[in-house]
Amino acid sequence: MSRKKKWMAGFLLLVSIQLLVSCGKQPDTPDTVSLGVACYNQSDAFLSEWIDCLKKEMDGLKNEGIMTTVLIRDAAGSQRTQNDQVKEMLAAGCNVLCVNLADRTDPSEIIDLAREQDVPIIFFNREPVAEDMLQWDKLYYVGADAKQSGVMQGELAVAAIEDNSRIDRNKDGKIQYVVLEGEPGHQDAIIRTENAVETLKNSGIELEKLSFQIANWNRAQAKNRMQQLISQYQNEIELVLANNDDMALGALDAYETFNHTESALPVFFGIDGTKAGLLAVTEGRLSGTVYHDKEGQAEVIAKLSAALVLGEGMDEIPFENERYIYLPYQKVTLENVTDFD
Ligand code: GAL
Ligand code: CA
Repeated sequence: MSRKKKWMAGFLLLVSIQLLVSCGKQPDTPDTVSLGVACYNQSDAFLSEWIDCLKKEMDGLKNEGIMTTVLIRDAAGSQRTQNDQVKEMLAAGCNVLCVNLADRTDPSEIIDLAREQDVPIIFFNREPVAEDMLQWDKLYYVGADAKQSGVMQGELAVAAIEDNSRIDRNKDGKIQYVVLEGEPGHQDAIIRTENAVETLKNSGIELEKLSFQIANWNRAQAKNRMQQLISQYQNEIELVLANNDDMALGALDAYETFNHTESALPVFFGIDGTKAGLLAVTEGRLSGTVYHDKEGQAEVIAKLSAALVLGEGMDEIPFENERYIYLPYQKVTLENVTDFD
């Protein structure tokens, strides 16, 4: 090496050491948060709105001088597809993953892939079982407490029934009800149903369960199932409890196809507060919903991603049980729906 080159090399080394010292960072700390988002099914109404919120929050990090990239993949319901997508996102250089499992009981392959490259995973919305969360210490979960949403839906129904004696249309002192359930095995399906019904019973309301149907969170399926229920029970149904807004809207769609008069309609309750759900509350077609805080979840995921990648700010994250974050639900009725636009 010539003297000039040696001098140059020495100078560059000094400059880079100086830069590292002044930033206070480890030499291998990345300067960009490259987030890979794996979604179980982007045609799910709530999740597509959820993903829009996350994109906004990740963009917002730029205002704090944090560079970000976001790669989103849709597994369309298949765990195998999702495993391949995670492989692809890791190969593309993602340094943190945000995973909405297709099958919430089957995260092992994804955990192994991420662990091999030391890339942390934030699971969201579809909660892995507790033992799987113990497979590695860089696993996190962001979501909401299913029980709380069920209790709130029950409370909304109690308030409506106590307030309006016409809901018991046949005046037999009991409320004839049906339930539209989400995917079997999902923490938000069975737990919501149980707690909504328990809350009604505990408040002294006499219930008569006519039937329940599984409609996998989906509006079209719910419409179809509800058409069957209407054919079977005619005007008997007084209350429809749906595990989410899209299924409550599907039930409303079914009544529209039968051209029911207002006085023959049951009351409907959903959960989520999607755009269409809130609009139906505003129009008085849905008696109530329970707001699922997608904005809050997206905000905390953006912060956590940045903290995990950049190595600072973990102390500001409001963890429960070290690695879980649950954002609260809120009840929505005609009275307060404008607060949620
Ligand atoms: C629930 C939500 C449903 C559906 C489901 C998918 O939390 O209420 O609408 O999006 O997650 O996992
Ligand atoms: Ca009745």
